[in-house]
Amino acid sequence: MVNPFYITTPIYYVNARPHLGHAYTTIVADVACRFHSMLQAESFFLTGTDEHGDKVVRAAKKENLSPRTYVDKISGLFRDLWPELNIKYSYFIRTTDPSHMVLVKQIMQQIYDSGDIYFSEYQGLYCFGCERFYSDRELVDGKCPDHETTPELIKESNYFFKMSRYQDWLIDHIHDNPDFISPEQYRNEVLSFLKEPLEDLCISRPKTRLKWGITLPFDKEYVTYVWFDALLNYVSALGYPDGDRFKTFWPHAQHIIAKDILKPHGIYWPIMLKAAGIPVYKHLHVHGYWNVDQSKMSKSIGNVVEPLQLKNVYGLDAFRFFLMRDMTFGLDSNFSEEALIQRINSDLANDLGNLFSRVLAMVHKYFSRVVPEIDIDVESELDLGLESEALETIAKFEEHMKGFAFNKAIMAIWEFINHMNKYIDLTTPWVLAKKKSSRKQLEVVIYNLLESLRIISGLIYPIMPETAKNMQKHLGIGPKKQSFSLDILKKWKTLIPGTRVPKSITLFPRIDLEKEPMTSPGRKDTKDMALDIKPEITLEEFNKIDLRVATVIHAEALPRAKKLLKLEVDIGEIRTIVAGISETYSPEDLEGKQVVVVANLKPAKLMGILSNGMLLAAVEKDSCAVATLDKKVKPGTSLN
Ligand code: MSP
Repeated sequence: MVNPFYITTPIYYVNARPHLGHAYTTIVADVACRFHSMLQAESFFLTGTDEHGDKVVRAAKKENLSPRTYVDKISGLFRDLWPELNIKYSYFIRTTDPSHMVLVKQIMQQIYDSGDIYFSEYQGLYCFGCERFYSDRELVDGKCPDHETTPELIKESNYFFKMSRYQDWLIDHIHDNPDFISPEQYRNEVLSFLKEPLEDLCISRPKTRLKWGITLPFDKEYVTYVWFDALLNYVSALGYPDGDRFKTFWPHAQHIIAKDILKPHGIYWPIMLKAAGIPVYKHLHVHGYWNVDQSKMSKSIGNVVEPLQLKNVYGLDAFRFFLMRDMTFGLDSNFSEEALIQRINSDLANDLGNLFSRVLAMVHKYFSRVVPEIDIDVESELDLGLESEALETIAKFEEHMKGFAFNKAIMAIWEFINHMNKYIDLTTPWVLAKKKSSRKQLEVVIYNLLESLRIISGLIYPIMPETAKNMQKHLGIGPKKQSFSLDILKKWKTLIPGTRVPKSITLFPRIDLEKEPMTSPGRKDTKDMALDIKPEITLEEFNKIDLRVATVIHAEALPRAKKLLKLEVDIGEIRTIVAGISETYSPEDLEGKQVVVVANLKPAKLMGILSNGMLLAAVEKDSCAVATLDKKVKPGTSLN
């Protein structure tokens, strides 16, 4: 029996929209969870949003919204984004959920009753960005290392949690459980922090200063410090203390975070658990930062990378692959679109894509698209170590995936791809195909290659689930028969001879590197990039697009979006469409105009407005031209 698997991401603050960094952590959790499903483990994957605190109140004010309306809106953006990235979480928790709030109060009361919380006056340097007090030695040149702002001196009476009481226990726990925090540099960082005496943690905020939080059960004038509230999500989501989920999954809890929140997770959280009498989590996985141009992503620098844009231009699986391949878990990585394009072209289009089409082309050419038979007599002579290499690859993959060394797991698969290419060079199927007498040999070679591709399709599944399914489909494995279980992958000769395979496809089209990258200054619009990688479609596929004439009834600019206009259009019915054309068109230019829209595009939210269709426009570097008609027609008329 394999152990159940419980994986969590940080719950994200709702003071900003989701970006590449949030997407990375959540994709890592998804990849880990899918991998554990290959081991047949029962899994639970938790993500969510952290919705209390000063930051949220300030962000809501900026948008002229009440905290409640504001948190609903941004939390919704996170929740809606994950399925777009094929992330299959089990539960989405919000710290404003009533059940979570009840549990926070319960645990607060319990720790208070056991004497680990006391009331005292405190004066300290407070960073509003981090929502915590800083000691002098934590500051860099007197500034918060994260926000680079000078913290404010605050004097107030508050409740404190006696963390210091548990310092020795925590040091022993980390020494006794070497893999409690990994990679090792972060374990060492926590241990080195614990060399100094731990200060007690201020766990309340007076309501005179902040109301948007969970009221302390033992003092109605105070709310709970946001971290004390947030960390408890990991157990409240499981229905602690009595829920079955808690019993099944908590003993196997693994948290994923980036290095920015190591201290709350590596120090506060285990001590909170210990004080509350809850067993400590199993494992903390800490990753580095995705930087852009070697600096942190930030709204003010304007270098925030939007995951959905990348998905739309390059395809989801390629994007997920890049993130897993180009970051060594634990270290920082630099994001650039050139690197992404290069990775797609070399690893996906060239290596995997070419190998796949090459093998399938031979199945088409030599066997009329049917998986060949294998003759036992010639089988061993033509194996050339391919089967054992495949099994070794699976073993390496399993080891690296368990250790969160995703890039190494991928490298192991790619070594096997190289091995397959060598196998083709050694066996020269095109030569075997020339003679009738070597037909049996040809059959074995092609069967072995197909079987190897089946194994690759399984190994890439956690990272590129749709490509994995697509590969299996093209190996003749129908949706119901597809399997990514590691045990089945290990069974050599699973493909059934005589199965017909579908027509060949290009798994990953090459991308033209000459094009300017999207994130560089003066970039081309994403639509330009997308043009280069659009696959050929059939007339039938084209006919699925519902192109219609729309009369613009009303247009208005969106104050917070530089490029966007909100349009009310008549396409036989009234629709709202948001279009990124305001740098070229003012609302007045458009009112009364007849334009062309894609009427059956899946609705998408842009700046909180549901856009129900897409307006067609030719996009150049700094301007665009909307598609119009050369004479007036009835609104809603189809274009064929
Ligand atoms: N709300 C807290 C977490 C509470 S968990 C009980 C918080 N939220 S956050 O929105 O700031 O999210 C921080 C996390 O987002 C990081 O730990 C990491 O998982 C992810 N990332 C944010 N920026 C990132 C990068 N630039 N690179 C990689 N991951 C990053 O902290």
